[in-house]
Amino acid sequence: MANQQDPPSHGINDLTKQAQVVVVMVPLPAQGHLNQLLQLSRLILSHNIPVHYVGATTHNRQAKQRVHGWDPNAAANIHFHDIEIPPFHCPPPDPKAKIKFPSHLQPVFNASSQLTEPVSMLLRALSCKARKVIVIHDSLMGSVIEEARFLSNAESYTFHSVSAFAISLYEWEQEGKLIEENELFPRDTPSLEGCFTDEFADFVDCHYSKYQKFNTGCVYNTCKLVESAYLDFLEKETIKEGIKHWALGPFNPVTIPERSESSKKQHFCLEWLDKQAKNTVIYVSFGTTTTFDDEQIKELAIGLRESKKKFIWVLRDGDKGDVFNGEERRAELPKGYENSVDGIGLVVRDWAPQLEILAHPATGGFMSHCGWNSCMESISMGVPIAAWPMHSDQPRNTVLITEVLKIGIVVKDWAQRDEIVTSKIVGSAVNRLMASTEGDEMRKRAAEMGESVRGSVAEGGVSRMEMESFIAHITR
Ligand SMILES: *[C@@H]1O[C@H](CO)[C@@H](O)[C@H](O)[C@H]1NC(C)=O
Repeated sequence: MANQQDPPSHGINDLTKQAQVVVVMVPLPAQGHLNQLLQLSRLILSHNIPVHYVGATTHNRQAKQRVHGWDPNAAANIHFHDIEIPPFHCPPPDPKAKIKFPSHLQPVFNASSQLTEPVSMLLRALSCKARKVIVIHDSLMGSVIEEARFLSNAESYTFHSVSAFAISLYEWEQEGKLIEENELFPRDTPSLEGCFTDEFADFVDCHYSKYQKFNTGCVYNTCKLVESAYLDFLEKETIKEGIKHWALGPFNPVTIPERSESSKKQHFCLEWLDKQAKNTVIYVSFGTTTTFDDEQIKELAIGLRESKKKFIWVLRDGDKGDVFNGEERRAELPKGYENSVDGIGLVVRDWAPQLEILAHPATGGFMSHCGWNSCMESISMGVPIAAWPMHSDQPRNTVLITEVLKIGIVVKDWAQRDEIVTSKIVGSAVNRLMASTEGDEMRKRAAEMGESVRGSVAEGGVSRMEMESFIAHITR
């Protein structure tokens, strides 16, 4: 079972033709984006196509160090291009910021323009050697890969790091239309107010739309079984431009290698989960761009304890632009808290093996910010979500999870985003998800969806077929 997580390798016959095609991945330097393109690299490598993963040295290191479920250092045919960029400002997140968007990352987003020249050089070099150069770039890195337009044997594809739901809604609104005018979108889907800083909205304006027209197609970390209505919508929207769309997700592995065979030491929280009964633990984590202030941390801490449910809580600040640059704030818990939840809850301060935790039978719920990586990981492992959105696409992903897919409940109502979530709200949300008939029904639905999504990447499944169609297209 050692390699059960690896997609099967393809025959030697494909090899000669495909060896002349190379793929270049250009992610945006933020964890959720770095990770998804690294995971997609793994899927493409399994088709014997060499992958070049390009980023600043520190971001490549971050992506490799944090990946779950496989070892990129051991994967043949993946070439990491570690680019040294000039130092950029790297402030810590502000726990008190009113808008929760990680505005402290703006300097690193801006610094990604430093990659343009090295990426252009790489593309030119590859263009001379390969029959075809396929660039898959983050939707916000269009300017960095502009060179691809001028190379006759290069093609570029936009990777959307968010849900097809969020993208189709964005496209709809770009046409000046209202949410209520399209029955695909629930009427109470929130506007983007409070989701971004103005500075980031400008960054999106500068780096997204005008580069789309040079693209051959779009790839998504989603699955037709989950978002077919929105994928169909996107397909229709761009039929005139001839832009193609491929739903290649989930990118993350859908099975976890046998533990004894994994070389890494077992994380203590997995050993703890082994001792818990099925579906009794709620996993609480808010991703890599959430930073709570002390008051919110206290309410969450007390709420979890008072829920009387078992929990694993990953308590860390949001990432800085360079995660290896200096110490992180150690958020304060109420005095004696960890002792008071001994045997009931675990507080994890370091990087947690999220995918393994979600895949564990003892995990029965996920309290999440609803970043798209977390949503896809939870969906593919069949775990229902208690949604606590913070910024960006997360409030809208919350609508997708709770209203469209009906595999989750709302903890934090986005309309009340400026208010603290009290311990009472936390406690009752945990109980609603973990100990009610409604919660059990969601868990059942999530488990069924997880099973079909895992099946979709197996032989004959829809995501596998999408991947085969994408590979056939890029190697044509
Ligand atoms: C990022 O770049 C924009 C556009 O050049 C500039 O206006 C802004 O001040 C920069 N922000 C930071 C934090 O460097």
